[in-house]
Amino acid sequence: MSTPGTQPTVEQVQAALATVNDPEIKRPITELGMVDTVEIDEAGVVHLTVLLTVAGCPLKDTINRDVTAAVTKVEGVTGVELQLGVMTAEQRAGLKEVLAGGKAEREIPFAQPGSLTKVYAIASGKGGVGKSSVTVNLALSMAGQGLRVGIVDADIYGHSVPAMLGVADSRPTQVDDLIMPVPTASGVSVISIGMLKPRRDQVVAWRGPMLDRALVQMLADVFWGDLDVLLLDLPPGTGDVAISLGQHLPGAEVVVVTTPQEAAAEVAERAGTMASMMHQRVVGVVENMSYLLHTNPDGSEQRLEVFGSGGGERVASTLSARFGYDVPLLGQVPLDPSLREGGDAGKPIVESDPTAPAARVLHEVANTLAGRGRGLAGMQLGLTPANRL
Ligand SMILES: Nc1ncnc2c1ncn2[C@@H]1O[C@H](COP(=O)(O)OP(=O)(O)O)[C@@H](O)[C@H]1O
Ligand SMILES: [Mg+2]
Repeated sequence: MSTPGTQPTVEQVQAALATVNDPEIKRPITELGMVDTVEIDEAGVVHLTVLLTVAGCPLKDTINRDVTAAVTKVEGVTGVELQLGVMTAEQRAGLKEVLAGGKAEREIPFAQPGSLTKVYAIASGKGGVGKSSVTVNLALSMAGQGLRVGIVDADIYGHSVPAMLGVADSRPTQVDDLIMPVPTASGVSVISIGMLKPRRDQVVAWRGPMLDRALVQMLADVFWGDLDVLLLDLPPGTGDVAISLGQHLPGAEVVVVTTPQEAAAEVAERAGTMASMMHQRVVGVVENMSYLLHTNPDGSEQRLEVFGSGGGERVASTLSARFGYDVPLLGQVPLDPSLREGGDAGKPIVESDPTAPAARVLHEVANTLAGRGRGLAGMQLGLTPANRL
């Protein structure tokens, strides 16, 4: 780490610190006013104070580790003495101003005309069809391609996204009234409506205006930064959240998840039609639990259609006919115990078992959706080697 005789400069140390991002805000700590003092003694030991946004910041260990690692790499540095402090109210106000980019009024960034973020709402007719599983796997697949992805878990009945991403017990850090999305190991940031409750086991009868406020809060009061893609896990059906979303984010596009069953397809069509009534475009259908791959004693494989067949095709063709534009069937995801296990363990299948047939289909759907991106999302994908998967 050190070449004897070379004395590091404060500028070199500052440059190293500029490579460290705050894990929640995902911007250099130097830009956020988090670096308070930097001093280098004659022995080459760097003494520095880094300010956390709030006391007891859950990610202080990460900051500690990243800062120490970055400064240690500077030529001539023989040691790092890092002190963690906490921002004063005034410093926090300064940070909020930096984050707000000079805007005083909070607004939904994704609803602004210049927004480059693709917003996909994942909808279904009923619960238990795999909507959340599809959401988290699409998110991770896109993040794996280098896209910046956020998830809003707006399912009031079963906010299961945090658990599927391994952050069930995490709470967002709040800088005054600004909320930081919870970062996950895979780089995807998440906010769940469950995190807005004081306690996890508390039961809230989310409805009407309160629900609308919660949705706006998750979109406007959460500091999402620059996202390429935002995925929303909607509650099943055609309720209040779908209406609120249609009002606040009319530009959101909708992906309908269904199982192959006739009855499931019928309610899925209703969810799709609801989106269209809110002037949102339905971009496609994902059929989940399409079949179970069964290996016969002779080694040949057979598809067992546990939940019937044709649901995805049916929803796609019905909605295409109803709306007068093509609503494609984006993929058919097979049943796979490791998909459920991955969700339960907080390690979605596209990461834990990326070559499994179910994961491949989810990767394909993610590619299709990411490739449709206006602006940056599509461009970045153009550079992604096709053989990544
Ligand atoms: N293709 C699949 N193969 C196996 N299990 C699945 C599959 N899709 C979903 N599951 C499991 O089914 C349950 C319901 O899925 P979930 O994504 O929570 O549905 P929803 O969000 O629509 O209620 C979960 O336990 C999940 O792990
Ligand atoms: Mg769910």
